[in-house]
Amino acid sequence: MKPYRKADPSTIVIFGAAGDLTGRKLVPALYNLCFDEWLPEEFAIVGVDIKKISEENFRKHLRKKTNEFSRRGKVKDDIWKKLAKKIHYLNADFKDAAAFKNLCTKLEGIDKRFESITNKIFYLAIPPKMIETVVEQLGGVNLADDLNNKVVIEKPFGRDFYSAQHLDSILQSTFKESQLYRIDHYLGKETVQNIFAFRFANSMFEPIWNRRYIDHVQITVAEDIGVEHRGAYYEQAGALRDMVQNHLLQLMSLIAMELPISFDADEIRNRKVDVLRAIREIPIEQIHKFVVRGQYGPGWIKSTKVKSYREEPDVAPDSSTETFTALKLYVDNWRWQDVPFYLRTGKHLPARVSEVVIQFRPVPHQSFPSTALVQPEPNRLVIRIHPTEGILLRFMAKKPGTILQLTPVDMRFTYREAFKNFPPEAYETLLLDVMLGDFTQFMRADQLEAAWSILTPILEVWESVEPSDFPNYAAGSWGPEEAEVLIAQDGRTWHMPSVMGPDDIVNAVRRKHSKGE
Ligand code: BG6
Repeated sequence: MKPYRKADPSTIVIFGAAGDLTGRKLVPALYNLCFDEWLPEEFAIVGVDIKKISEENFRKHLRKKTNEFSRRGKVKDDIWKKLAKKIHYLNADFKDAAAFKNLCTKLEGIDKRFESITNKIFYLAIPPKMIETVVEQLGGVNLADDLNNKVVIEKPFGRDFYSAQHLDSILQSTFKESQLYRIDHYLGKETVQNIFAFRFANSMFEPIWNRRYIDHVQITVAEDIGVEHRGAYYEQAGALRDMVQNHLLQLMSLIAMELPISFDADEIRNRKVDVLRAIREIPIEQIHKFVVRGQYGPGWIKSTKVKSYREEPDVAPDSSTETFTALKLYVDNWRWQDVPFYLRTGKHLPARVSEVVIQFRPVPHQSFPSTALVQPEPNRLVIRIHPTEGILLRFMAKKPGTILQLTPVDMRFTYREAFKNFPPEAYETLLLDVMLGDFTQFMRADQLEAAWSILTPILEVWESVEPSDFPNYAAGSWGPEEAEVLIAQDGRTWHMPSVMGPDDIVNAVRRKHSKGE
């Protein structure tokens, strides 16, 4: 975890600088780090892309994007001026070795001006097929030799176990593992990081954090958006690769991991990989009982009519790519034996909501008369990642009145109420971690392999059997019927997103449901 110090002199070289990620996430995050004075004095950004654009226009383009996407809204002139001075651009064809010589000259010029050797951070915001070329070229001009230099890799980390291994062999043929930062932006989210604090800085939950007291765990990452302009990427990915392989399995690891003995990055990553390795293999012939796939058809999202996935741009009219998936997983160890973890994620669901629900077992003996239990509900702990970030504890209380009646009530903590400020964006935290050399929130090669070995058999079965019922859920619904069956066959139901605060958009969804719309 981050110490209270500024990073060493650094130059961040963004490959794919004209792309979406740079304007939408990376530069707004760097602007906010500049605003909060986290950036070292000797700091530079070098954008590299094939697009022919002048340095001045590149800066203008980034200012526009930062205005649009920074959590602070419109940029402040003085802060932008400070950052803009640090922004450079290099037009380059990644296949051209001469371009990488130019990059070296540019980097030497920056270091000379600073009178300091900056750590170089090579951020690969590029499609996977270009990674090999860029990595080889960086090796070719000896930019991998200095072990203070780092590479940041964005997902997808391969398409399956074998391609992930191949990608890793490419990276490791030029860089050392200690130079590789595999980014999963979910791990930079404030509430996700708070799972550590919640679990390991409080003594009251640990004694009940196990199979004796927990009935099951649900992890939902629902999005109301569809695939938008990312059809071409999504066709190759699907929900299992896009969300489960990384974000959902990382969330599950944080919930299920054993207590670390320290906050050393490898200690944390060891405990997380233990969880992934303990996930029970699903026998091929039972995959259909444990995993559901779905694809959205036309429907309504917040009173707007939306088209089906197959009608989206760059999507095949007979596509069999899943836009929804739900899974039941078990962790075979002493803490979690036979406690199901239900995971679900999908596009064009009724709300954007990410939360983890820990449902506790019912009391072993019910001493209250049945007349008192009008609305019995199990105890639940809800960790909300988005929106209205916070934690909610649901328990039974006596309804005020002369007769004995019990009713569920909620105890809520929300970030907004408790801290009255807006937490940093995930990319701010993660970019600073890279500069500080903190690996805690980044994925190690063995974590990726473990995650892929859980999912690869599922992907293989899906590829061999085309779905016959796609599209099988209407946009704006909670996914296909089979997802309900997956959990209902165990006598359980999916938890409706909790109401965390007065401005919670989920309120609206609830109202809509209760009206039966
Ligand atoms: C990305 C996926 O990793 O996460 C997207 O590729 C998804 O498909 C996004 O929309 C969700 O992230 P967030 O932070 O908006 O919940």
